[in-house]
Amino acid sequence: MKWQKKIFLVLIVICTVSLLLHHGGHFTWNMDAFHFGCSHQSPGPKPKHTNTVFLKTHKTASTTMQNILFRFAERNNLTVALPVQACGHQFCYPRSFSSHFVHLHTLRPNLITNHMRFNKTALQRLMPNDTKYITILREPASMFESLFTYYSRHCMSFRRVPNGSLEAFLAEPSRYYRPQEIDSMYARNTLTFDLGGDKDNSIKDLAYAQNFVADVEKVFSLVMISEYFDESLILLRHLLSWDLEDILYVKLNMRTESSKKRLSPGLPEKIRAWNSIDAYLYDYFNASFWDKLSDLGLDCVAKEVQLLRQAQERLMRSCFGGKMPLPRPAAEIKNKDLRPWQPSDKVDIVGYDLPVNISREAQEHCLKYIMPEISYTRILLHSQSLQHRRSYQNRPVQKSHTLQQHIRTTLPRHSQVHRSQPAPSVGQSPASGTESKSTPKQS
Ligand SMILES: *[C@@H]1O[C@H](CO)[C@@H](O)[C@H](O)[C@H]1NC(C)=O
Ligand SMILES: *[C@@H]1O[C@H](CO)[C@@H](O)[C@H](O)[C@H]1NC(C)=O
Ligand SMILES: *[C@@H]1O[C@H](CO)[C@@H](O)[C@H](O)[C@H]1NC(C)=O
Ligand SMILES: *[C@@H]1O[C@H](CO)[C@@H](O)[C@H](O)[C@H]1NC(C)=O
Ligand SMILES: *[C@@H]1O[C@H](CO)[C@@H](O)[C@H](O)[C@H]1NC(C)=O
Ligand SMILES: *[C@@H]1O[C@H](CO)[C@@H](O)[C@H](O)[C@H]1NC(C)=O
Repeated sequence: MKWQKKIFLVLIVICTVSLLLHHGGHFTWNMDAFHFGCSHQSPGPKPKHTNTVFLKTHKTASTTMQNILFRFAERNNLTVALPVQACGHQFCYPRSFSSHFVHLHTLRPNLITNHMRFNKTALQRLMPNDTKYITILREPASMFESLFTYYSRHCMSFRRVPNGSLEAFLAEPSRYYRPQEIDSMYARNTLTFDLGGDKDNSIKDLAYAQNFVADVEKVFSLVMISEYFDESLILLRHLLSWDLEDILYVKLNMRTESSKKRLSPGLPEKIRAWNSIDAYLYDYFNASFWDKLSDLGLDCVAKEVQLLRQAQERLMRSCFGGKMPLPRPAAEIKNKDLRPWQPSDKVDIVGYDLPVNISREAQEHCLKYIMPEISYTRILLHSQSLQHRRSYQNRPVQKSHTLQQHIRTTLPRHSQVHRSQPAPSVGQSPASGTESKSTPKQS
């Protein structure tokens, strides 16, 4: 395990240096151009909104979105709630989210984004009360094809299908699907399940889908749509008063073209029928998404998307030595931390390597954009734990060491971004099975 420590340390140094460089202005893009975009916003710069829940759904470009949020958190010294080790890099998915899954060193969070099954009550207790809720949906047919391929080895419902044939599964789904199996959520209404809903509600139950959509709409300020990822980011930036720089990204966790299958005629309809709640959800939020774009003005959205893509191209050039990078199979990526997780030998999830001949500055800046989710989660947990310990050591001596006080002293301070009152503390003790019902005094 020693080498892992070394890698951690090296990466921590890299993070620190890149943060410093960043603030040193080596890589600040010209923001002026961006302000010509959608200009009907209230005049005067608003503070950036920080407190955010991003419900990371499966196979929806959500890893790219998570990377955007991780980088935002690091740049602004924010706390990201991360899972305890026993949960892996997800919050004990597919169990319903509980604050007991949150690592103690990451409490009083501003952001939470790792995979979970949504539980509104538990999140509202954990997060500050001005938290904005965001998620992302993908068109159900292409999403199901992606899930079927990605989880072909992991999901029992898919493993039973002869020859791994999507057609065979859809011809008789109930022959292969067992609703009670632990991994069955990948095989039916995954989006609904991730959002905390009932994936196995009767196919004909339109009323259930309608009620569920209404619940989701009440909680989530923005439902992004994978097919319109850049437009989604423009809506996000307006919702949170973020800059262009805050939504820059390099696409992550993709499959090679050869692992993608074209859907034969008739399959999309079968997929929608089998995943009818997801289909209803998608259609509803795709429609409201386009209403939101219209409200902002389609012209100005298009303009901001163009500015985003130009900035992205500059980023890619500075990061990949003057050329657009070719995504590579994991085995060819030299830096092990940059190799994405491979779900099976049937799917190639591609990643990137940094060219060795670019400047050190560029390397340090670029690393985080292409860091896969598991590596990044590990590194963030490590740096937040270091910071947690440091503030624990520096805190004034107290007579009673209650957890609440402990948490309060570790709240990071910063002036760049707006911070609202913290949410009531969550009493978290591994011994007790229930959350503290007491409302401690606000600091
Ligand atoms: C959601 O969280 C609340 C509060 O922690 C808990 O009481 C409830 O049982 C959870 N819901 C599910 C479905 O686990
Ligand atoms: C599976 O593949 C084999 C060989 O290609 C073929 O003979 C068989 O009919 C296939 N089975 C199904 C259920 O498609
Ligand atoms: C989403 O909604 C828009 C506007 O109604 C429509 O043009 C588009 O086809 C929809 N996208 C999908 C993938 O259904
Ligand atoms: C790095 O090497 C590549 C390929 O050898 C070359 O195309 C590129 O111009 C080099 N970049 C720099 C900054 O030297
Ligand atoms: C981040 O937090 C640390 C520790 O609280 C502090 O020393 C540092 O100045 C902060 N950096 C920024 C950019 O706010
Ligand atoms: C949020 O919490 C703060 C402090 O606890 C309180 O003053 C404020 O009114 C709350 N805001 C809302 C919208 O509940």
